[in-house]
Amino acid sequence: MAEVITLEKYLKRKYGGADEKFADLILKMGEIGERIKDELPNMRGKADTKNVFGEIQLVADKWADKFIIDEFRATGLVKAMASEEQEDVVQLNDKGIFNITLDPLDGSSNMKSNNLVGTMFGIYKEDLPTKGRNQIGAAYILYGPVMSLVCATKNRVNKFFYTKKGFILKQENIKLPEPGILYGAGGLRKDWLPEFRKYIEGLEAEGYKLRYGGSFVGDFNQILHYGGIFAYPALAAKPNGKLRLLAESNPMSYIIEQAGGASTNGKISILDIEPESVNQRIPTYVGNKGLIEKLEKILS
Ligand code: AHG
Ligand code: MN
Ligand code: MN
Repeated sequence: MAEVITLEKYLKRKYGGADEKFADLILKMGEIGERIKDELPNMRGKADTKNVFGEIQLVADKWADKFIIDEFRATGLVKAMASEEQEDVVQLNDKGIFNITLDPLDGSSNMKSNNLVGTMFGIYKEDLPTKGRNQIGAAYILYGPVMSLVCATKNRVNKFFYTKKGFILKQENIKLPEPGILYGAGGLRKDWLPEFRKYIEGLEAEGYKLRYGGSFVGDFNQILHYGGIFAYPALAAKPNGKLRLLAESNPMSYIIEQAGGASTNGKISILDIEPESVNQRIPTYVGNKGLIEKLEKILS
């Protein structure tokens, strides 16, 4: 029988010595996931507030945000956090060694229908905001039929499944399948730029199948497993699209690049964009390298 490797065992093996604190941070993310998964059934209502993007917040968005910030504060490991639900960077602990970006609950409009939601983290040592290339790791939790934790460090993407034994290693060193078979793109087709529409029609003609679920974590997770491209593109009336550079696009771009894929805003890798503000949006395209290169040519 194959050895069952728990998240803790795996992290302690790979990140001993100087990197022990990194292992503690990822373990904490796993614990956070367990608690959020437990609480989601009780958090189905709307809050009376809007976030800085003018989006109506759910009880779950606000609760998860506060919960994660408090949990990280208590570890002493985290210096500051930039959350999608906060206007500015939140200072946690002067002695902390990591800076974290956070989307506490991604895809929260899926709560109503009980479709996929997730949590994403970008991990830095530099002060925030800074470019995504400075990430030393990134992770997401998917509250799917099985809760999973996907965690990336340089050139390595691993997946853990939550079981009775806690999180256990499910897949090590994930690489994007070649060729990919899926695409997913947000926004209305009529609002896409003509070049992007043509590009997607080209993929459809080649047999790429549409999978779009309205949660970046969930839709990204499809691409990571089947290959292809996910986009929340520039739209005619919203040239920066919808997704947030720090909280959403950077961690996922980091993960896709470590899995052998690529990311772009249409011109350059998302990871090379110097942020102008904590809450900046960015057109986001992530997927297999060849598909991203082709897209950049068409959009330029
Ligand atoms: P969030 O729930 O954190 O605000 O993020 C929602 C984002 C992202 O998850 C998804 O890709 C996109 O919004 C879906 O938008 P549409 O409803 O416009 O498809
Ligand atoms: Mn989100
Ligand atoms: Mn969110």
